[in-house]
Amino acid sequence: MSAKKGYELKPNPATGRYRLISGNWKMNLNHLEAISIVQKLYFELRDVDYAFSEISIHPPATSLRSLQLLIESDRMRFSLGAQNLYFEQKGAFTGEISASMLSKLNVRYVIVGHSERRKFFGETDEIVNKKVAATFGEAMTPIVCVGESMQEREDGKTDDVLSQQVRGAFGEIAPELVAKAVVAYEPIWAIGTGLVATPEDASSGASLIRDEIERNFGVEVANSVRIQYGGSVTPTTAAELLAADGVDGLLVGGASLDAEAFARIVRSL
Ligand code: PGA
Repeated sequence: MSAKKGYELKPNPATGRYRLISGNWKMNLNHLEAISIVQKLYFELRDVDYAFSEISIHPPATSLRSLQLLIESDRMRFSLGAQNLYFEQKGAFTGEISASMLSKLNVRYVIVGHSERRKFFGETDEIVNKKVAATFGEAMTPIVCVGESMQEREDGKTDDVLSQQVRGAFGEIAPELVAKAVVAYEPIWAIGTGLVATPEDASSGASLIRDEIERNFGVEVANSVRIQYGGSVTPTTAAELLAADGVDGLLVGGASLDAEAFARIVRSL
């Protein structure tokens, strides 16, 4: 990724961590629409907008190759991301995509364990753990999604749920790899509902996650892991969520389908 002098990506001076804003398109946009949205996003952003945060785009797998070619040929400063992978290396797994297939497309980030995958596709912590290992195995970075449901929150179980999901995702993973991971705190009650968490909610989720990482892998690892907030982020709420203590970025669903809205989120820093 090339950057004009003075506009290189800078870490957050308060934390030393590089912010990451990710667009999770879910099952939306064909490859032609994907190209057009990324071109629009590129025209919306100025050089300075890339200095505060890395930007990753997670289209459906059918658009990865087109976006890889677009990003590389026009030297756009976007990182390519995937929404999922399968943990086996190859073989008779009809419909699945391996980590090495993604890394060959220069995919840098892979969303793992999104609540929609846990809910609709039966992804357990054990499967999430294998997917995290497979992602690291190809030198890509997982964005591990964790979050409590409204019921769990009302029952006062948020802490337990987040701890268990964090332990489950990173069990047996080497601490030096965990240090490179991204965790997205996505309270399920805030995803696609318009019910955005407050900056205090985002901060408290992030600190529960960081504490659990510290208990399992030590303080240095905990201080290098990046934690995103995700769930109904809009251009209006992005700035205060990004400013929340312990939050290093955003995982944006619906609003990332609109180039102008996503650009405003990126620029909100
Ligand atoms: P949303 O989705 O922004 O549409 O709520 C976020 C996500 O599920 O990653």
